[in-house]
Amino acid sequence: MKGYVVAIFLSSIFLYYVLYCILWGTNGYWFPNEEMKSKNNVKNCFKKPAFASLLRFPQFYPFLCKADFVKVAATYGTNNFLLPYGVKTFESYFRSALSKLQSCDLFGEFDTVPCKRCVVVGNGGVLKNKTLGAKIDSYDVIIRMNNGPVLGHEEEVGKRTTFRLFYPESVFSDPSHYDPNTTAVLVVFKPQDLRWLMEILIGKKINTDGFWKKPALKLIYKQYQIRILDPYIIREAAFQLLRFPRVFPKDQKPKHPTTGIIALTLAFHICSEVHLAGFKYNFYTPDSPLHYYGNATMSLMKKNAYHNLTAEQLFLKNLIKKKMVINLTQN
Ligand SMILES: *[C@@H]1O[C@H](CO)[C@@H](O)[C@H](O)[C@H]1NC(C)=O
Ligand SMILES: *[C@@H]1O[C@H](CO)[C@@H](O)[C@H](O)[C@H]1NC(C)=O
Ligand SMILES: *[C@@H]1O[C@H](CO)[C@@H](O)[C@H](O)[C@H]1NC(C)=O
Ligand SMILES: *[C@@H]1O[C@H](CO)[C@@H](O)[C@H](O)[C@H]1NC(C)=O
Ligand SMILES: *[C@@H]1O[C@H](CO)[C@@H](O)[C@H](O)[C@H]1NC(C)=O
Repeated sequence: MKGYVVAIFLSSIFLYYVLYCILWGTNGYWFPNEEMKSKNNVKNCFKKPAFASLLRFPQFYPFLCKADFVKVAATYGTNNFLLPYGVKTFESYFRSALSKLQSCDLFGEFDTVPCKRCVVVGNGGVLKNKTLGAKIDSYDVIIRMNNGPVLGHEEEVGKRTTFRLFYPESVFSDPSHYDPNTTAVLVVFKPQDLRWLMEILIGKKINTDGFWKKPALKLIYKQYQIRILDPYIIREAAFQLLRFPRVFPKDQKPKHPTTGIIALTLAFHICSEVHLAGFKYNFYTPDSPLHYYGNATMSLMKKNAYHNLTAEQLFLKNLIKKKMVINLTQN
């Protein structure tokens, strides 16, 4: 009798562990290798933020690592999705690009803050004439995107950048924007983006075919600063958070999340608190500034075949209403 109880007890512990690994996507690394040892994002933080309930795998590691990307892709079904949601048919492109990167680390080795307070800084014109710079700089992690400059806008948006999400058409090429403390995260929308990264890293001439506009011809960041975002994060943004349909009618282009929502999804996987600044489109005032820099106006953004901005604004409004994130541009 006693033996049965012990056996049931032990097997339930084992089952719990298996379930835990499945649910939290830890894969149960029994034999972690060098690269895997540094793979933790929120595991040392025991706070459970409200937004974690929106995610399928809150502890999913957001960057691809050359040592295990094939295994991770199989575990999360990323090998069944085409770009930008998966690696299907372009595994070899991913492998080649990853083989050129020095690291897939998330935070520096001297980083000891277990629960991160993060701010995601959008490029919206709402940041103009605001003086949020010092406030933004006070966060543990500051996520920016594309070519939203810090230089010359320190009062409005601060000077520190922990992560900068980019794609070849949107990345700085002017070295005055260089920051050695930034990790530059490539968001792969199409196979050309990986070809571009490879060509840039090995110093080959850039093939500029197949881009939305002219891509950067050199990269201001050093090899150690570059990461590739796991396409799973983009899939999570589209299907889990924005609830985009999986198929669109034939006469419509499929809609994909903007870099802003992708950045927010990344933040949800690595932060215990997430604040937003500069996320706003003034659809009803076409002359209002689109960005906090430059002269582009809202009218440029109004019709966008690739994104569904209405869906994104509704989603953000709801997050703010439910107090899952805080809108810094509120006051
Ligand atoms: C910012 O301030 C300048 C000068 O005070 C003003 O001309 C401009 O319209 C303001 N921009 C916004 C978006 O409020
Ligand atoms: C980078 O970080 C170091 C250490 O925190 C700091 O001393 C330095 O000023 C930073 N550099 C830039 C350009 O922000
Ligand atoms: C924006 O417009 C101002 C005034 O018209 C001009 O001086 C400035 O160079 C423009 N900036 C950009 C980035 O085009
Ligand atoms: C955009 O999203 C909204 C809200 O979810 C939806 O009603 C609308 O049909 C979508 N538009 C397109 C073009 O997909
Ligand atoms: C944040 O607050 C500002 C000011 O009230 C508002 O204009 C903006 O739409 C809000 N942002 C979001 C994403 O709701």
